[in-house]
Amino acid sequence: MTKNLDWANLGFSYIKTDYRFIARWKDGKWDEGELTTDNTLHIHEGSTAIHYGQQCFEGLKAYRCKDGSINLFRPDENAKRMQKSCDRLLMPQVPTELFIRACKEVVKANQEWVAPYGTGATLYLRPFVIGVGENIGVRSAPEFIFSVFACPVGAYFKGGLAPSNFIVSEYDRAAPYGTGAAKVGGNYAASLYPGKLAKERNFADCIYLDPKTHTKIEEVGSANFFGITKDNKFITPISPSILASITKYSLLHIAKERLGMETIEGDVFIDQLDQFAEAGACGTAAVITPVGGIQHGDNFHVFYSETEVGPVTKRLYEELVGIQFGDRPAPEGWIVKVELD
Ligand code: PLP
Ligand code: COI
Repeated sequence: MTKNLDWANLGFSYIKTDYRFIARWKDGKWDEGELTTDNTLHIHEGSTAIHYGQQCFEGLKAYRCKDGSINLFRPDENAKRMQKSCDRLLMPQVPTELFIRACKEVVKANQEWVAPYGTGATLYLRPFVIGVGENIGVRSAPEFIFSVFACPVGAYFKGGLAPSNFIVSEYDRAAPYGTGAAKVGGNYAASLYPGKLAKERNFADCIYLDPKTHTKIEEVGSANFFGITKDNKFITPISPSILASITKYSLLHIAKERLGMETIEGDVFIDQLDQFAEAGACGTAAVITPVGGIQHGDNFHVFYSETEVGPVTKRLYEELVGIQFGDRPAPEGWIVKVELD
């Protein structure tokens, strides 16, 4: 039985589910981990996660298929990315086996919270690692916690596949060779104030430029950026300070292999937006959010439309979401089934 929620109208808010997974690292190794119903953490006041931002997280979703089974989308890629984030912040890697087992256990234990097929809602999984234990100096923590919790979610940006407008921020979310490529809380803390300024002006979020020259698009605060050129190329920024979006790499594959498009990871100059017929923001939470327009200084540039979805963006969306919900064939290894007994 699935829970009785208004599935079609869920936004992106915390809803307590029944179980979460927690594992602890001490004396050089992770324990087996276990499910718990307690959604609070009791940690040492000196924990490095609190003082020095020694923490990282991931985001992935569980999808209910037509036949009632449940899919995870490329969880091995989230595991690998979390390992890179852990390396960057001097935290012990969570092995891929532990990461995927934790995700599967949380989905299975909370399967009543996985939305029925066809509602558009999913179960969002939030794995994280935090440095904990007695400490005060700037150093790596003596102990760590790895946890995964789950929330049923709908659209991250209002309207889902409806276009959203974004504004170029004067602020940076990450430094050129800082932690922008790692999924660590500090990047998001840095984006809160610019994000607030954007929302006060009725934009969905900021677009950040490259922190070195402020001439090239990097990404949105919570998603990567892509553009479809007027001659039908899929272009997405490349930079050492953006998050390597798993959705973006999936779209690069889909655009090339299924839509026959030329794909490019390269520079996207903010003063060359005229080359694009369509643009989008992509990520686990954002899925594909069409970019209606971008405000840059006094200039507001509209791509395809502020109200309609462009045809290429729509095809990319249908293919991606079709794969995720099991309606279209997936490239090898992209779908991992959650065993439900
Ligand atoms: N960029 C940022 C800053 C993000 O927070 C996210 C979300 O995870 C993404 C991009 C998209 O990454 P993914 O497609 O792996 O979810
Ligand atoms: C995600 O898409 O999983 C994200 O982490 C974006 C945002 C909710 C931080």
